[in-house]
Formats: sequence, structure tokens, C-alpha cells
Amino acid sequence: MNILLLGGGGREHALAWKLAQSPRCDKLWASPGNPGIAEHAEVVALDLADHAAVTAFCGEHGVDLVVIGPEAPLVDGLADSLRAAGVAVFGPSAAAARLEGSKGFTKALCERAGIPTARFVQCRTLDEAQPALAGFAPPYVLKADGLAAGKGVVIAESRAEAERALVDMFGGQFGEAGSEVVIEEFLTGEEASLFVLTDGKAIVPLGSAQDHKRVGDGDTGPNTGGMGAYSPAPVLTPALTEEALRRIVEPTVRTMREEGMPYSGILYAGLMLTDSGPQLIEYNARFGDPECQVLMMRLESDLAEVMLACAQGRLAEVPAPVMSDDVALTVVVAARGYPGTPVAGGGIELRGAEADGVRVFQAGTRSEGGRLVASGGRVLNVTALGASVGEAHRRAYVALDGIDFADGFCRRDIGAREIRREQGSA
Ligand code: AMP
Ligand code: GLY
Repeated sequence: MNILLLGGGGREHALAWKLAQSPRCDKLWASPGNPGIAEHAEVVALDLADHAAVTAFCGEHGVDLVVIGPEAPLVDGLADSLRAAGVAVFGPSAAAARLEGSKGFTKALCERAGIPTARFVQCRTLDEAQPALAGFAPPYVLKADGLAAGKGVVIAESRAEAERALVDMFGGQFGEAGSEVVIEEFLTGEEASLFVLTDGKAIVPLGSAQDHKRVGDGDTGPNTGGMGAYSPAPVLTPALTEEALRRIVEPTVRTMREEGMPYSGILYAGLMLTDSGPQLIEYNARFGDPECQVLMMRLESDLAEVMLACAQGRLAEVPAPVMSDDVALTVVVAARGYPGTPVAGGGIELRGAEADGVRVFQAGTRSEGGRLVASGGRVLNVTALGASVGEAHRRAYVALDGIDFADGFCRRDIGAREIRREQGSA
């Protein structure tokens, strides 16, 4: 089959690497792609906001499957436009992508379907929101309603801080995303992510992961898109996974289908493992970045086959994907300045960092006169497999230390909490 992969980050490099290995994949195109993706796919220039142009490309090149990596084109309805033209798509419709695009939508769905999540109120104006704080105790969790590139959440320690944050949010700090704000109860516990494939009916788990959102070692400094991740997340035990599927994922998929907006694609559930069981923090309508990189390292099955089956509503008919028992761990190398303004253009020498079970996925790179240079905040994802988190961690950092990227920095403690637990139980 001919596949078009949309996106150009580390997540899409991992997807391209895996799709290209499929015996079913005859031709792989990618847009906008990056130099890493270009090793597995033919990169083409397409404007993802121009649905007619993407659809026309698929017609001209006999594309059998479009895989949409990032959330923005999903929320923008690219999957709907392609499906209307008869093209199979891996990724949800705009209506279903509201599970990521609108926190208010997801909270209301949780309420209708009895899904465990933090108690909340949804506010449309500042006058409504300020008094609503009285119904909660600090720390206050405030969320701008729409897509805000992972930055739309404020956790305020005091009432005064929460009131100031609300003024900023309704004042346009997050643009359109701030026109509605959800205030919710603060949940305590450990966070873990659960990934499932669904075609709207069948639900197939694809593994778990934990990421590291803060920029600095020891979980310090500002939030980022993620500085590293590992899979599986042992805190999400088989019993907790079963509970999360039964109480959170299954009612979501069922309600979406029954209400006429079936969800198709990968559903990424951000969970808080509280004393009273898993609660939903948020959904994403796509693979996590860099969580996708660790999942793809562990995936032993044919990704193209399972994605096509998902797109065609035949997920129950294909063998469930098999994940390796190994642990995969990825370390993000970012450009100095990230998550603020990153230094662009720094030269990168990968110098054969890759080995058996070690891959360097490219996130923010471009090729300049035959040389690899940085072109984004998160630049590389150095990813390794190992028998334990400790082993995967060692192998990833050995590879990382062989790379020459003077403008880059990384956290040195990816997986550290899990390694301490491994050592404790050893
Ligand atoms: P979100 O964008 O909804 O994933 O939120 C970003 C981060 O804020 C999450 O990964 C959590 O660390 C934190 N967070 C969000 N909601 C809550 C909550 N209700 N209680 C505690 N922490 C939260
Ligand atoms: N790494 C978090 C995300 O992709 O949303």
C-alpha cells in the first residue's frame, strides 16, 4: 500500500521508521517531514491546512492510507475532508478530536458517562470564574479550554494567584483557547499514560508510558512538551490498566459512538493514579511526543497493517499488536533556550550513535548544505531498549554522549524514579 504520513517531528520519525519496515508498505511519503524522516520516506511539500491540496495529492499518487501525526490538523478536520474523498485515514474526525481540543467537551462527556475525573466547573466569563474558585481548595487547577500546545494549564498555589491567572486567561494569554476556562479539583498521585487503538468499536491497548514534563533534572523549571519518556510504566499495573480500560476508556469509546461521533485512531489517556483508582486528567487524540518513540521501539507487529485496519473499521479482525517485554527509554536533546526561544542553527554530528536497539529520532532538525542543524526546541530523541529501565537509561546516555551538538542540552535523570524503584526491589 501507499502511505502518506503527515507531521515532521520525533513522533513522526518513529512512525516513519516503523511504517517503512512493513512488508505491506510499497511507498511512503511524508510532509513536511525532516531529514530523519527522509531516510525512510519521500518528503513532499504540502500545506496541511489546504485540505483540497492534500486530498488531490492522495488521488494523484494512489495513497491508500493517510496517517496524521499532530493534533492541529485533526482538530481542523483534515481526517473528515480526506474521508469524504474516500481516502482511508488513521486519526479521528474533528468532532471526535474534541476529546483533545476541548477540555470542557471532555469533562462534560465524563459527567454523562460516569467516568472518574477531577470535579470541575466550566466558566465562560471572568465574572463567572472568580466566585467559582470558592468551591475549590488550593492548589487551584485552571485550564484554558482549547489547544494551547500543552501550555494552557495553570496550577495556582493561592487564591490570589488563581485570580490573577484567570484575569490573564480571559485576557487572551492563550488566544482563543482562553475564551472558556475549566477550574478543577487538584488530584494527587502518580501520572501515567495509557495508549489504545480504536476504530470506534474495538479497543486494543498499545502500552503505557511515563514522561518527564519539566525542563530540569529533579522535575524543576518550566513545563515542556516532554523531555523524555519510558515504556512500559510499571505503576500502571495490569489491574490498574484493566480498571482504566473498564471505567475510563471503554465508556468514552462507547459514548462517542452512541452519540454519533465515533473515535478512530490512537487515544492517549493521561491518568492520575489516585488512592481511589485511576482518574482521567486529559485525553490526546494522537500519539504522545516523545511517548510514541518508546512505543514504536517496543512494537513488534506490523504498524501499517494495524493502522489500516483501524482506519477501515476492521480492528477486531487483525491480530492484536505485540509489544516487546523490553523497556524503551528516550532522552530528548533540546536546543539551549527551550522551552523559551531555542537557539536555531546549531550543528549536529550524530557520529554513529545508533546501534542495535538504539535509535536517534530527529525532532527539530533540518539539512543545511549537507549538514544536519537544529531547527526547533526539541531536536533529537535518543532512544534505547533494555531489559530494565536502568539498562535502557545507560544505553541511551552512552549513545547520547557520543553525539556532538554544542547547542544542545538534556535532562540526565530520565527514568530515575523508576530506576530507584528497580534498585529497591532488586
Ligand atoms: P493537561 O494539559 O490537562 O495534561 O495538564 C498538564 C499537567 O497538569 C498534567 O500532566 C498534570 O501534571 C497537571 N494536572 C492537570 N490536571 C490536574 C489535576 N486535576 N490535578 C493535578 N494535576 C493536574
Ligand atoms: N509528551 C506529551 C504529549 O505529547 O502531549
